[in-house]
Amino acid sequence: MRDTYGRTIDYMRISITDRCNLRCRYCMPDGVELVPMSDILTFEEIVRIAAAAAEAGIRKFKVTGGEPLVRLGCPDLVGELKQIPGVEQVTLTTNGVLLSGYLDRLYEAGLDGVNISLDTLNRQTYEKITGRDELNEVLKSIDLTAEKGILVKLNCVLQKGLNAHEWGDLIRFTGERPIDVRFIELMPIGFGRKFEAVYNEELLEKLHTLYPDLEPDERVHGNGPAVYYRLPGAKGSVGFISAMHGKFCANCNRLRLTSRGLLKPCLCYEDSVDVGGIVRQKGIDGDEMKKQIQEAIRQAVTLKPECHSFEAPDGVTEQKRMIEIGG
Ligand code: 5AD
Ligand code: SF4
Repeated sequence: MRDTYGRTIDYMRISITDRCNLRCRYCMPDGVELVPMSDILTFEEIVRIAAAAAEAGIRKFKVTGGEPLVRLGCPDLVGELKQIPGVEQVTLTTNGVLLSGYLDRLYEAGLDGVNISLDTLNRQTYEKITGRDELNEVLKSIDLTAEKGILVKLNCVLQKGLNAHEWGDLIRFTGERPIDVRFIELMPIGFGRKFEAVYNEELLEKLHTLYPDLEPDERVHGNGPAVYYRLPGAKGSVGFISAMHGKFCANCNRLRLTSRGLLKPCLCYEDSVDVGGIVRQKGIDGDEMKKQIQEAIRQAVTLKPECHSFEAPDGVTEQKRMIEIGG
């Protein structure tokens, strides 16, 4: 599918739950209100939307949350998505806590890659950020996943006054393994508004000083807006997702399906198209439903704005929290 600005839209992120087993302070602090279970799309509804989307031109799906692995049957959903004709890639974004236990099933389902959220390698800092003492489980998952030959990328959000100084440790950690680390600038979405971001520009400057022979890595690493560099001798690459300052929107290829079934053209704005309402209609035949879903998808593509405006004080109109959207 082509949008108004000539971009090809072939990637959909699907949030399958807003529940999570961690309580990251910028995402889901203790006591947050949850989406009622009855509002959350069933796997059958998700697959129906995904199949219609694939027929309309979506080639890649990312399963996200909340934490997708807290929803029972997540590996089965991955398998079902993989089997949809036209689907080239299915990946998962997870906090990694439960990943090692599901690895075999995810591998058999044909999972193509995993993004693991990890902001620190320090056990105390991990607990401060996530509210839970689960760092060892995550580290175990990272190594087991890479050993299995599944592509691993780490997502790291740095916050001033907390883990800002830990970027070097994360770079060294991934340098010793064939995995990438991406630094994602904290975005003023949901609880993210309450904390101070570390800007990638500063980070990159420090990195250049430390490693004068740092080289841009032009290989395609995935679907995302990250810009990559390679350190001499390192096995993995270092990526930067500069949500606040880098305007990567010219290459945007995505739509986001929330756990409630809203299709979002852009993370920054509140606009959405309700596909959940379409799949929940009673007494309508399969072909008619598919037609309506595809019309909704094309409408969401048409509504895609040229650019986000995270950097502007009132630029963000999205009021939903990250757990509802799926990152
Ligand atoms: N800004 C940037 N990244 C965020 N994430 C969650 N909330 C925010 C935010 N406000 C990240 C998580 C996870 C990914 C899915 O989104 O750390 O890695
Ligand atoms: Fe859970 Fe990810 Fe949000 Fe942390 S950032 S609370 S792991 S959904």
